[in-house]
Amino acid sequence: MTARLVVCSTCRFSTEEPTDAAGLSGGRRLLDAVSAVVEAEGADDVRVEEQVCLWACSSHCAVYLTDAGKPAYLPGRFDPTVDSAQALVAFARLYAASPDGAVAYRNWPEGMKGHFIARLPAP
Ligand code: FES
Repeated sequence: MTARLVVCSTCRFSTEEPTDAAGLSGGRRLLDAVSAVVEAEGADDVRVEEQVCLWACSSHCAVYLTDAGKPAYLPGRFDPTVDSAQALVAFARLYAASPDGAVAYRNWPEGMKGHFIARLPAP
């Protein structure tokens, strides 16, 4: 299965600043980092997509993870860093490999803990 990892490209860089010194949003930085991790790992089980605002703006940076027939997840409150991207991609790959979308807590990447906002019913 291939999971869709949809990254909000417009999330703030920080609570204080909408963009970094280069004018990039936090969402754009996280999207670029996630894309780089997926490419480096050759992770064809994760498809990275971009969306302008997931309506979780107060929980920047936010992403949406979904796969056919599985509950979806809306995690957020990430720093737009490589560490966050690695945690997201690792979780997305576990999710993609899971037949029912359930990833045992003991297998969660440390960087995912405390970041889940919602688990949504499968469409
Ligand atoms: S700007 Fe990212 S969720 Fe709204």
